[in-house]
Amino acid sequence: MSHLIAPSLLAADFSNLIKDIEMLNQSDADWFHIDIMDGVFVPNISFGFPVMEAINRHTLKPMDVHLMIVDPDRYISNFKKAGANILTVHLEACNHLHRTIQAIKAEGMSAGVSLNPHSAVNDLEDIITDIDLVLIMSVNPGYGGQSFIENTYRKVERTKTLIERTGSKAKIEVDGGVTLKNAGKLIDAGADVLVAGSSIFKSEDPAETITQLKNL
Ligand code: DX5
Ligand code: ZN
Repeated sequence: MSHLIAPSLLAADFSNLIKDIEMLNQSDADWFHIDIMDGVFVPNISFGFPVMEAINRHTLKPMDVHLMIVDPDRYISNFKKAGANILTVHLEACNHLHRTIQAIKAEGMSAGVSLNPHSAVNDLEDIITDIDLVLIMSVNPGYGGQSFIENTYRKVERTKTLIERTGSKAKIEVDGGVTLKNAGKLIDAGADVLVAGSSIFKSEDPAETITQLKNL
């Protein structure tokens, strides 16, 4: 499988969101990456259901929703209603991760688990065959535009090894500080999905940057 590109709307122009949504629809982007922050799990607040529903009315591509919130179980059906196709929760935010994953799947969504930079890949050992996606954070979550943490390559490799050993079908997604400079090495390490915010939307020609990321 060729790798997928999931541009993060966090770096889009919120005063003219429709322009960026249409650009993504016409581009080589595979998924829309939607970052939901609650100001508690992470020190920032992004946006909520009304904005997500508005994006959903116009997107022609799957919505890959990354929850950086505490107690995500409270909102699983709301995210389904708002259009999420893939719903990813943080390992660090879930006391009963297995139950949370089952609840996401029961709503008909694909289920992902995200790891903060300090969390060990080994902690996925007993959940890896139940999930569709592992989202490796390559920055500390909360803000776009941060610099990439180099240890991520090794973490992606370890995740790939775990997936192969267990026969899991999970995809590996990397999120934070992804650019044209590090994307190739991430794919070589085993990444299946690359999230990129600033390196796409702050570039001169965002659609062309997506094409370049896709063609690596
Ligand atoms: C960070 C978010 C990321 C972020 C990526 O907490 O989860 O998805 O928007 O943005 P860049 O690519 O600018 O690091
Ligand atoms: Zn994200």
